[in-house]
Amino acid sequence: MRNKYRKPTTLPCNAGSRCSTSLVLWSLLGFLLFLHLYSYICNRDTNGEESRLHVSHHPQFRELQEVEEENIQVPPPKGKRSPRAEKRRPKPKRPTTLIDEFLDENSQMRHVFFPGLKRAIDPTQAAGNDSYYYYPGRIWLDTDGNPIQAHGGGVLYDKSSRTYYWYGEYKDGPTYHAHKKGAARVDIIGVGCYSSKDLWSWKHEGIVLAAEETNETHDLHKSNVLERPKVIYNEKSGKYVMWMHVDDANYTKAAVGVAISDTPDGPFDYLGSHRPHGYESRDMTIFKDDDGVAYLIYSSEDNSELHMGPLTEDYLNVTSVVRRILVGQRREAPALFKHHGIYYMITSGCTGWAPNEALAHAAESILGPWETIGNPCIGGNKMFRVTTFFAQSTFVLPLPGLPGSFMFMADRWNPADLRDSRYVWLPLIVAGPVDQPLEYSFEFPLWSRVSIYWHRKWRLPQGWSRFK
Ligand SMILES: *[C@@H]1O[C@H](CO)[C@@H](O)[C@H](O)[C@H]1NC(C)=O
Ligand SMILES: *[C@@H]1O[C@H](CO)[C@@H](O)[C@H](O)[C@H]1NC(C)=O
Ligand SMILES: *[C@@H]1O[C@H](CO)[C@@H](O)[C@H](O)[C@H]1NC(C)=O
Ligand SMILES: *[C@@H]1O[C@H](CO)[C@@H](O)[C@H](O)[C@H]1NC(C)=O
Repeated sequence: MRNKYRKPTTLPCNAGSRCSTSLVLWSLLGFLLFLHLYSYICNRDTNGEESRLHVSHHPQFRELQEVEEENIQVPPPKGKRSPRAEKRRPKPKRPTTLIDEFLDENSQMRHVFFPGLKRAIDPTQAAGNDSYYYYPGRIWLDTDGNPIQAHGGGVLYDKSSRTYYWYGEYKDGPTYHAHKKGAARVDIIGVGCYSSKDLWSWKHEGIVLAAEETNETHDLHKSNVLERPKVIYNEKSGKYVMWMHVDDANYTKAAVGVAISDTPDGPFDYLGSHRPHGYESRDMTIFKDDDGVAYLIYSSEDNSELHMGPLTEDYLNVTSVVRRILVGQRREAPALFKHHGIYYMITSGCTGWAPNEALAHAAESILGPWETIGNPCIGGNKMFRVTTFFAQSTFVLPLPGLPGSFMFMADRWNPADLRDSRYVWLPLIVAGPVDQPLEYSFEFPLWSRVSIYWHRKWRLPQGWSRFK
C-alpha cells in the first residue's frame, strides 16, 4: 500500500536562525494535519481498490476472510475427588487451559487437536465432495494413501514443469529422548519431497536427501538433527539448491547445511555445513527476491535475534554482508514473503515444541530496519490466536492469480509422537491499514495489515490460477 509520506529531513529554519519558535510550531501543526489527511485519503483509496479487485474477480475471495470462531470448552476434571484429598489441597489448582490440554497426551480433548485417521484429508477419495478442501490439523494423506511427511517444510514452484514441490522433514520414526534433559526427537531419516499441480493432492517423490546410516562423523548421521529444509532454483547454474538447519542432538553445532540437485525431485548431493558469518544458526529459511538475489535468515546468538544476509550468486554460500534484526526479541521459525515491493515476515517465539504467539514484521528494504506489526491471527478463539492455531510458522507461499493472498504453512507439532505432527495451512491476506502505529518514528507505514484467517474447513476460490 502506497500510503507513505515522509517527514522532510530539514525543518524550515535551523537552530540559530532568526525564525520565531511559533512559526516552527505552526508549520509543524499544519504539516501534521496534512499528514493525517494524506494518509486517510491514501488508505481509503488503496483499500477501496484492493477490495474491488478481489470482489470483482473472485466472488469467493471473501470466504477466505470470513472470521470463524471456535467455541471449544475445556472439559471438567474427570472423576470426583475424595473429600480428604480436597482438604489436603490448600489452594485450588489453576484451571486447565486449552494449551494444557493440547500438551497433555492423555487429554480427553486430544481428538480436537489431532483428529484420527478416519477424518484424514484423502486425495485417493477425490471423487467425493471433499476434494480440494483443507482441514487444518487433520492427517493429510498423499496420493498413495500414506500420511505426508514434510514437517518444517517449504514449497518451491517449478516454472518449467508447472509443478509445486513440497520439501520437509521426513519424521516417520519413533519419538524418544536422547537423554533426560534432551528434547523429544526422531532420528534423521531425510528430506521428504512431494509434488502437486493443485497444492492439495500430493504425490510422494521419495526421500531426496537421506540420512547417513553408518558414518558417525557425518552431519547427516541419523543421531544428529536436520530441520527446516528449503529449496530454491538458481537460474544461472540451473541447480536446485537446498538449505537446512544441521545440528547435533543437543543443538550445540548450530550450523546450516547446503545440498544441490539438477532436478527438483532429487536426489540432492550434500555439500557440507558451516556457521554462517561465523555465528550460531538454528531455525532458518531462505528467500529468493524478484531480482534473483537470495537471502539466508537465521536465529542466532542463542535465538535472541535474527540474522539476515544475501547468498552468493550460486546460492551455495553466504556473502560477507549480514544484518542483525529483531535484536533481543527471541524469534524463530521465520517465513518471508513480499507484496507490492514490501517485505513481510512471520515468526514464532521460542518455546520448543509448545505453540506460542506469531508476530508479523515488515520492512521496506529486506536488510531492514524491520518493524514488528503485531499478531496476524484472526478467528478461532483467544487461545487459538495466541498459539498460532496451535502451530508454528514454516513457510508463506504466494498464490498466483490472487494478488495479496498467500498460503500460510505451519506445523502443529506433536511432541508425544513427532511423526504425527500435523499441517495447518490457512489463507494469509495482506490488505488494509495496520492496527498499530510505528514504533520508531511518526512516519506512516508503507505496509498493510497481515491477516491469517482460521478455518476449520476451507478451499481456494474455484478458478484460482494455479500457475504464474
Ligand atoms: C456430493 O454432494 C451432493 C449434494 O450436495 C450429493 O448428492 C452427492 O451424492 C455427493 N457426492 C459424493 C460422492 O459424496
Ligand atoms: C565420514 O564423513 C566425514 C564427514 O563428511 C568424511 O570426511 C569422511 O570421509 C566419511 N568417512 C567415510 C568412511 O565415508
Ligand atoms: C548431549 O548432552 C548430554 C548431557 O549433557 C551428553 O551426555 C551427551 O553426550 C551430549 N550429546 C552430544 C551429541 O553432544
Ligand atoms: C563461504 O564464504 C566464506 C566467506 O564469506 C568463506 O570463508 C568460506 O570459505 C566460503 N565457503 C565455501 C564452501 O566456499
